[in-house]
Amino acid sequence: MAIHVQAIRKLAPADYLLIEEEHVRLGRLLHDLHETCSNLDNLLSCQGCESGKLASCRGRLPSYIHDLIDLVDMHFYHEESIMLSRPQVTVGYEYFRLHRQAHDSIMQELKSIVGECSSLDKLEKTAEGYRHLYKKLSDLFEEHDRCFDDPFIHSTKV
Ligand SMILES: [Fe+2]
Ligand SMILES: [Fe+2]
Repeated sequence: MAIHVQAIRKLAPADYLLIEEEHVRLGRLLHDLHETCSNLDNLLSCQGCESGKLASCRGRLPSYIHDLIDLVDMHFYHEESIMLSRPQVTVGYEYFRLHRQAHDSIMQELKSIVGECSSLDKLEKTAEGYRHLYKKLSDLFEEHDRCFDDPFIHSTKV
């Protein structure tokens, strides 16, 4: 995830640590997806993988999904609480409202992505499922950081 380290340091130390740690955990989850599926960077199916490897990929997918939803949900809650603890920020503050709206729409989108991945897995297109999840997640969070998290962190200078 593209985090501006310089900017994030402007937060109070505890808030900084929490946000940084959760962004790192999200990055680690993406990395784990990448490490699990050997076909993430190509367009191959699972045919080249032996049955034990395929079984392990299929078994781990639901737990990745579970951890992902849990982590993102908790992270958004923390980020919004930290924003609201800033003196000038209220629920009606436009910047906060738009950032929260973006979190809500990511959660909605995550649910559809997760459904699509499970359907691919059921069709024995597990590699496609991993690729879909990895690509969509990377794109969603890269865009979110650029449009919302980085500007929010910059705004904490006061
Ligand atoms: Fe955010
Ligand atoms: Fe974030």
